[in-house]
Amino acid sequence: MISADLIVTNLAELVTCEPALGEGPLGVITRGAIAAAGGRIVWVGPESRLAAEVGAVPGAQRIDGRGAVGLPGFVDSHTHAIFAGSREEEYALRARGASYQEIAAAGGGILSTVRATRAASRDDLVELALPRLATVLAHGTTTIEIKSGYGLTTADELKMLAAARRLAELQPVEVHPTFCGAHEVPPEFKGRTDAYVDLVVDEMLPAVAERTLAEYVDVFCEEGVFSTTQARRVLDAGASYGLRAKFHADEFVTLGGAELAAELHALSADHLLKARVEDVAKMKEAGVTAALLPGTAFFLGLPYAPARKFLETGVRVALASDFNPGSSMGPNLQLVMTMAVSQMKMSPEEALLGVTLHGACAMGLEQEVGSLRPGKQCDLLLADVPNWRDLSYIYGVNHVTRVLKRGKVVHPSGERRSDMPNAAESRLVSGQARSVPAPRPPLP
Ligand code: NIG
Ligand code: FE
Repeated sequence: MISADLIVTNLAELVTCEPALGEGPLGVITRGAIAAAGGRIVWVGPESRLAAEVGAVPGAQRIDGRGAVGLPGFVDSHTHAIFAGSREEEYALRARGASYQEIAAAGGGILSTVRATRAASRDDLVELALPRLATVLAHGTTTIEIKSGYGLTTADELKMLAAARRLAELQPVEVHPTFCGAHEVPPEFKGRTDAYVDLVVDEMLPAVAERTLAEYVDVFCEEGVFSTTQARRVLDAGASYGLRAKFHADEFVTLGGAELAAELHALSADHLLKARVEDVAKMKEAGVTAALLPGTAFFLGLPYAPARKFLETGVRVALASDFNPGSSMGPNLQLVMTMAVSQMKMSPEEALLGVTLHGACAMGLEQEVGSLRPGKQCDLLLADVPNWRDLSYIYGVNHVTRVLKRGKVVHPSGERRSDMPNAAESRLVSGQARSVPAPRPPLP
């Protein structure tokens, strides 16, 4: 008998994202249940077997899923969620025909956020990011990567990473920080990119490593920003401090970032709008995850990454939000899944794996999060949809009604449970009443 201090029942289906645990590539268990102890999953299976296999410890928490779909918390492997200022004027400029690169060349873009972020204190950045992370959590993301890269001085990069550390302490979303000092060339180094790379390598990276403020290293490897040679310098230096590479590659121009990612055995290469398919095939061979960010193409009005061609190489495809004030001002991974299916022709199964297990792979966290397998953290979403496909089919609304992180209900806070406005909204949009399975008898 397995003992549990948390038992969740009355689910229309439990989507484990582990094929061995249920039906199809997502391992779906119809009328599934899940049990956890000490924040980790100890059992998943059909509810009909629960009573025989799992015993509740005294005082265990029981959650009635009320016919919801249960699925793993989303893992967002690429964000810039810490920043000050706002760039809605650029959004309007783009609608009038300006491109992202033109705006950046004119001193807007990333540098506009750099000015605002330099002027903010660590605590200002934390205050600004807290409500964003509350929204992130409410939409089902339980683990998030957040980059620095709007400071571009040693002190300001450290300040951003310190804000990330503080955010990790203050709210339930699990935060994994990335040092992205090579996000842009700051104005004081204009025309002296190599000198800026020296600063990143010789001063910033050692300072970040000494304070253990980051787990990953990122570079904006792009025409007019950092070349593949400069990117390699930064990523190699990061590796010497134990920071794993995951970086912006082939976003606007084909520079060979995907090939570099394969050569360096990066954790992930991200964006890849302009990546050569043969380079993505090399990524597959090297075990590098392709992190696609359709929200960016959507928001900038660009063609989407050729996901199907990439998938044909066998590469693992993750989907992330790229949540940032310039190129993708949205953290909703349910909507990202819709874009993946309708615009990039990924299957709904591929899309859901992209924001769960494959997102975890893009962060090297696949032993901890991203699927509902015994031993992993009990990061569980309850979604008020008739079946899991509706998560991305009924789009632009939030289907997630409850979020558990490490076995604790963290959203909604308090015990407000039913008649969530977003649940009512999704039922309205789907036009079908949710079919609630018959209530189960209480567990012995
Ligand atoms: O992933 N391309 C570089 N970084 C971000 C944009 C950041 C910004 O515009 O503030 C991206 O698209
Ligand atoms: Fe980005």
